[in-house]
Amino acid sequence: MAKSFKHQLSISLPFTFLFFFTTLSFTENEELGNLLRFKTSINDPKNSLSGWSNTSSSSPTHHCNWTGITCTRAPSLYVSSINLQSLNLSGEISDSICNLPYLTHLDLSQNFFNQPIPLHLSRCLTLETLNLSTNLIWGPIPDQISEFSSLQVLDLSSNHVEGKIPEDLGLLFNLQVLNLGSNLLTGSVPSSVGKLSDLVVLDLSENRYLVSEIPSFIGKLDKLEELLLHRSGFHGEIPTSFVGLTSLRILDLCLNNLTGEVTRSIVASLKNLVSLDVSQNKLSGSFPSGVCSGKKLINLSLHSNSFDGLLPNSIGECLSLERFQVQNNGFSGGFPVGLWSLPKIKIVRADNNRFTGHVPDSVSLASALEQVEIDNNSFSGEIPHGLGLIKNLYKFSASENEFGGELPPNFFDSPVLSIVNISHNKFLGKIPELKSCKKLVSLSLAGNAFTGEIPPSLADLHVLTYLDLSDNKLTGLIPQDLQNLNFALFNVSFNRLSGAVPHSLVTGLPASFLQGNPGLCGPGLANSCSSDQSSFHKTGVKALLLLLICLALALATSLVMSYRYYRKKLQFKSGWQSEFYYPLRLTEHELMKMMNESSPSGSEVYVLSLSSGELIAVKKLVNSRNISSKALKAEVRTIAKIRHKNTTRILGFCFTDELIFLIYEYTQNGSLRDMLSSPGDQLQWSVRLKIALGVAQALAYISKDYVPHLLHRNLKSTNILLDKDFEPKLSDFALDQIVGETAFQSVIHASCYTAPENNYSKKATEEMDVYSFGVVLLELVTGQRAEKAEEGTSGESLDIVKHVRRKINLTNGAAQVLDQKILSNTCQADMLKTLDIALDCTAVVAEKRPSLLQVIKALEGISSSVSTSTEKLPVSA
Ligand SMILES: *[C@@H]1O[C@H](CO)[C@@H](O)[C@H](O)[C@H]1NC(C)=O
Ligand SMILES: *[C@@H]1O[C@H](CO)[C@@H](O)[C@H](O)[C@H]1NC(C)=O
Ligand SMILES: *[C@@H]1O[C@H](CO)[C@@H](O)[C@H](O)[C@H]1NC(C)=O
Ligand SMILES: *[C@@H]1O[C@H](CO)[C@@H](O)[C@H](O)[C@H]1NC(C)=O
Ligand SMILES: *[C@@H]1O[C@H](CO)[C@@H](O)[C@H](O)[C@H]1NC(C)=O
Ligand SMILES: *[C@@H]1O[C@H](CO)[C@@H](O)[C@H](O)[C@H]1NC(C)=O
Ligand SMILES: *[C@@H]1O[C@H](CO)[C@@H](O)[C@H](O)[C@H]1NC(C)=O
Ligand SMILES: *[C@@H]1O[C@H](CO)[C@@H](O)[C@H](O)[C@H]1NC(C)=O
Ligand SMILES: *[C@@H]1O[C@H](CO)[C@@H](O)[C@H](O)[C@H]1NC(C)=O
Repeated sequence: MAKSFKHQLSISLPFTFLFFFTTLSFTENEELGNLLRFKTSINDPKNSLSGWSNTSSSSPTHHCNWTGITCTRAPSLYVSSINLQSLNLSGEISDSICNLPYLTHLDLSQNFFNQPIPLHLSRCLTLETLNLSTNLIWGPIPDQISEFSSLQVLDLSSNHVEGKIPEDLGLLFNLQVLNLGSNLLTGSVPSSVGKLSDLVVLDLSENRYLVSEIPSFIGKLDKLEELLLHRSGFHGEIPTSFVGLTSLRILDLCLNNLTGEVTRSIVASLKNLVSLDVSQNKLSGSFPSGVCSGKKLINLSLHSNSFDGLLPNSIGECLSLERFQVQNNGFSGGFPVGLWSLPKIKIVRADNNRFTGHVPDSVSLASALEQVEIDNNSFSGEIPHGLGLIKNLYKFSASENEFGGELPPNFFDSPVLSIVNISHNKFLGKIPELKSCKKLVSLSLAGNAFTGEIPPSLADLHVLTYLDLSDNKLTGLIPQDLQNLNFALFNVSFNRLSGAVPHSLVTGLPASFLQGNPGLCGPGLANSCSSDQSSFHKTGVKALLLLLICLALALATSLVMSYRYYRKKLQFKSGWQSEFYYPLRLTEHELMKMMNESSPSGSEVYVLSLSSGELIAVKKLVNSRNISSKALKAEVRTIAKIRHKNTTRILGFCFTDELIFLIYEYTQNGSLRDMLSSPGDQLQWSVRLKIALGVAQALAYISKDYVPHLLHRNLKSTNILLDKDFEPKLSDFALDQIVGETAFQSVIHASCYTAPENNYSKKATEEMDVYSFGVVLLELVTGQRAEKAEEGTSGESLDIVKHVRRKINLTNGAAQVLDQKILSNTCQADMLKTLDIALDCTAVVAEKRPSLLQVIKALEGISSSVSTSTEKLPVSA
């Protein structure tokens, strides 16, 4: 129609253009006037109707060309349709347009008209379509609605229409489309609706207060193609009269409170059905086995002789069916097997029911199939080869069923496959190769009995982000290349995997996703891949290369060493030199003598009593660095100048070309390790908190405030000394500055204080100190030693980080790990908070650890609550 109109204009306009207004006929002028009157009562914030004007000087536009106006040619030019949707209009809908004698369509949808239903529009005697959808229309539907006698399409959806649906609605005999969805209607559907025999679309969805049974007269509407009753308050059974809905294409009853069985009635109306959704109700019973499988249905219908007046062989062929959604109900019995082979079926959702049955090989005929969700049922049998032949399948979710056997080799062949969840079935055998499914995002095979290796082809699936292979019987290595993927979840726990875990998989994820594989090793795991044995066969070439490099290095080092040996012999015959920053009455010879006579206390620290009665602590270091004595003195001085109330003072040092003795002030109470493991008086919680805070502050001082910025790099409870007031004194910090990086690395053996990334990251970072600090915090909170021989096992040492995490995971009670010797109602909450900080600090991923300043702030928060609430008992909830 629009086309022919334009055609006509293009012929007439060249002649009439200059004399436009004079050539406008009387009726055209009338129409124009009516439109302008209609416009005057409308608010138009976007000026969408600015072209609706007869005064526009430059180029006056024929009103048939105005925004939203369509004209009809017969008998002459008349406005037939006004479509002003989505223009932010508000104001009054004037009935002046009812003077347009040929107006049939009025669409004011998606605007802001805020008023009751404009009944005066019933004056528009020719109006066939009234679309007021998505406005702010309020109030009830009055009986006078029946005056819209010519209406064929009434769309009042998505407004605030309330009250009961009036009986008189049934007088709109011409109605073909009635959409009252998404309103606030109440009561039930009046029986008069059954008289609307021309209805093609009936939408009463999303009316929460429309609480009633589905009236059986709906079944009389045999022209109905769309019946949308979802998300309302319908309860009771689906009426058997639905058998009469032979034209039905879309049936949506989801999210109601429907009960009973659907079978017979639905089956009957399946003939032309494109979409069936009865999901999320309380429906039960079983579907007759013949549903949607043409032939058998002849038998079905003959036996259950209840389909009044229907041709038996037309039932249930379902040749048009695209969606079948029956999920979240209580259906049981055999799943209609014919459904799997329908030519147009796209979506099958039957999850959370109690269906039995299997997926037939003929599923390959369902070439349009995109989505299958049948989780949490009792499906069984094997996955057929036919499934892998479907090229449109993007989701296959069948977890929690009783499927078994081996997956067919082509299981993952659909090129658009994105989501696969077949967890918790009884699958066995190998995981097939994944070659074609480059779009796979999520794969869950958990809780089956898969054997063999993790297919390396997984690493080629670049968008794979969710991989759950947990709880199977997989063996072998975790493919190295998997670490190139960007996983949000990677769970291979409880398999029989072995060997080194690829680095970024260890560091990027909590270790619990690897648990239950005793053969796996890597930082943060029970085994830390001591030798390269396991990775040797895999990366044999690399290892060999490494070996060669090592040999070369060793050779070079020994050459350098022997050269240095000779040189040093010549240079430093004189032996000991010393430098004191504190008036110590001590000569190098005395020191040497005393050192020979005593043995180190704790860790490589000698406590010596001077003739003056003073006590000093001496730390012995190997001097393997080739720097001048001047440079060495400068280095030690840098560290000795640190002054903080929580650092141990360096009183001086002695050195030869082979050894360095660092002299520290002596602290009364030994090391934190000693105090924690002594059987006697326990450090109370407030003291422990003070120690934690002091240590954190000292660490922050040396790394942030002191210039040059230094890292501790060797924090342990043996290096935290306590003075007579139990004020902590950090010692042994920044020794790398004195002995040099290489020697430092050999002095420091990896322990459970060492952050996991230390093994491969060359650069020392604050995060590593934070990790060590976290381990100390764990010792303070649990009262356990960071490392000790594990009970029962011989020789294996217990890593406190793992121990605590395991315990928390197992028992779900963090309170379990707290030091029972000092635990009280008063301090439990604070200890738990501190435990949280400790766990954060010992995060496997360095970036996840808090900064020292954040740690201090958190600890200060806790300790301020200690000082104010020590006497208060916690209020029990
Ligand atoms: C524009 O329309 C109004 C209302 O119909 C009419 O009074 C006026 O004369 C028209 N102006 C022109 C320029 O045609
Ligand atoms: C039209 O309405 C939309 C939705 O409320 C709003 O975001 C937009 O700003 C409005 N435009 C004008 C010009 O008023
Ligand atoms: C009507 O619209 C068409 C297409 O937008 C345009 O070519 C024609 O000039 C317009 N006619 C008038 C009278 O404005
Ligand atoms: C009414 O308008 C809305 C929004 O513009 C549209 O989605 C809907 O299909 C229309 N109703 C009918 C019955 O055409
Ligand atoms: C379904 O019925 C229950 C009570 O039987 C009621 O609480 C619930 O709101 C109903 N749901 C709907 C969508 O009407
Ligand atoms: C119908 O059912 C009978 C017995 O139930 C069976 O013998 C017959 O083969 C069936 N016919 C068809 C066409 O399936
Ligand atoms: C499994 O389906 C049943 C209904 O058959 C339902 O009651 C149950 O909640 C579902 N389980 C899960 C985990 O959704
Ligand atoms: C796979 O299915 C299991 C069990 O139904 C469910 O817990 C899990 O969340 C599903 N995984 C995904 C990625 O949907
Ligand atoms: C990993 O898998 C195990 C075993 O199936 C399970 O217990 C654990 O909750 C899973 N972890 C995550 C984060 O899904």
